[in-house]
Amino acid sequence: MDTYNPARMLEFVERGDERGNLVVVEGMQDVPFEIKRVFYIYGSDRDVIRGRHANRESEFVLVNVAGTSKIKVMDGKGHEKVYTLDRPRTGIYLPKMVWKEMYDFSEDSVLLCLASTHYDGEEYIRDYDEFLKIVNGEAR
Ligand code: TYD
Repeated sequence: MDTYNPARMLEFVERGDERGNLVVVEGMQDVPFEIKRVFYIYGSDRDVIRGRHANRESEFVLVNVAGTSKIKVMDGKGHEKVYTLDRPRTGIYLPKMVWKEMYDFSEDSVLLCLASTHYDGEEYIRDYDEFLKIVNGEAR
């Protein structure tokens, strides 16, 4: 059995009552970092692949607050795993230095992304070969 698990699913508490549902996500409590940035992705066609990068510094939690998508996570050492995001109360925690690809977006997909950093394009690794070299110790 492949027990490789580069990312971690998070189940948030759903505070529902007769008025509907409420999910609260607090930094250092419900996610393992202080939240410095929030962005969301929507309107991506099903055949689009987003992401295709690794981050030297940023950690993320992704939640499909509406609709569904898939995310493939790779460690650059031969392991990869596909996760499905299909519930507003379920997130995926992505540590630094994993390669990620988001795809298979439903038409109504709204993918909420919580980040541990402010945006800095310099900490993104967008070349897969460069990522492989870095994680395998052949480049910095
Ligand atoms: P990109 O990282 O390619 O999106 P994804 O990972 O979802 O495929 O970002 C698209 C553009 O938006 C790119 O020009 C960088 C910019 N951007 C910001 O300015 N700030 C941000 O926080 C993010 C995530 C992207």
